[in-house]
Amino acid sequence: MGRKIGMWLYNNGGGDKIQKRLIKKLKEREIKVVPNINLRYAIAKNGHIIHDGRKLDKLDLFLSYNAGEQTQYQMFLYQALSRVVPMINSYDSFALTEDKFQTSFLLRQHGVATPDFKLCHRDDGEQLKMIMKKWSKMVYKPTDGWGGVGLTKIESEATLDTLLPFLNQMDLRFFYVEKFLKYDNTDFRVDIVDGQFVGCYGRKAGGSDWRTNVTSGGSVFLREPNDEVVALAKKAAAVCGTDIAGVDIIYDQEKEAYVVLEVNGIPAFATPEQEKMGLDFNQKKIDLIVEMIDRKTTKNKKEK
Ligand SMILES: Nc1ncnc2c1ncn2[C@@H]1O[C@H](COP(=O)(O)OP(=O)(O)O)[C@@H](O)[C@H]1O
Ligand SMILES: [Mg+2]
Repeated sequence: MGRKIGMWLYNNGGGDKIQKRLIKKLKEREIKVVPNINLRYAIAKNGHIIHDGRKLDKLDLFLSYNAGEQTQYQMFLYQALSRVVPMINSYDSFALTEDKFQTSFLLRQHGVATPDFKLCHRDDGEQLKMIMKKWSKMVYKPTDGWGGVGLTKIESEATLDTLLPFLNQMDLRFFYVEKFLKYDNTDFRVDIVDGQFVGCYGRKAGGSDWRTNVTSGGSVFLREPNDEVVALAKKAAAVCGTDIAGVDIIYDQEKEAYVVLEVNGIPAFATPEQEKMGLDFNQKKIDLIVEMIDRKTTKNKKEK
């Protein structure tokens, strides 16, 4: 029996074209693709997960690459499916990267530099006051956010005092804060697939904002990484167990070292506009993903 994999890839920003290219390349290796499998429309029935009349647990692999919407329901089925079918990324690594605290904690355990951070219980606001004395500036971060949304820079103890009552009202379970790093308001986004370097670009914060996210007014620019940045990204991807990763890195001017801000489990391919700008890693990324899928499904067939 031939190999068959499932796929759920984002459609916007040129994702539809990338999907077509992936499907074509996989077909050349006699790997069939069932596209557009949104777990939102799947159901679990006894020992099977069914989508559009198909048992997803019979697939040889599932590529989940859609950041748009991952509801609790989708994550729930992702977790179950990942136990029985190889998934890219695995549920465990994806869930890990969805959480900034869990990611930073694991990275630091493995000696990967990150901004200093602290997590404390919501009733332990005193901890924040203590750390504020030491750090002088910090960033409050929702652990599951993206696009720079909800990040709050706390520049003085007075700001913290005004902010705490609001945070307390928000029904949070905990506070996650990072030392605010002095950096040049640019970052590196380094894509890693299957442990290999794929491509890199930079982002620069816009205007007076300190966040580099495009959604916060930042802009993308061509940027060559150096060996140190690539090695750091590879290590971060390996520690997180992500087959595909986009690692965000900035240079801490005080420590004079590169640090990992976060690992993205669904890093976007270059958009058509970015390709025109000269971001040319899409082909390499597609090739490496196809190669990895081929290897993972071959191995799996032999084991059965
Ligand atoms: N500790 C920090 N010190 C200084 N700037 C930071 C720090 N953490 C994040 N930033 C800035 O904020 C942006 C968003 O932070 P990040 O942790 O990547 O969250 P998001 O998931 O919202 O992108 C980063 O790209 C960086 O520009
Ligand atoms: Mg980010």
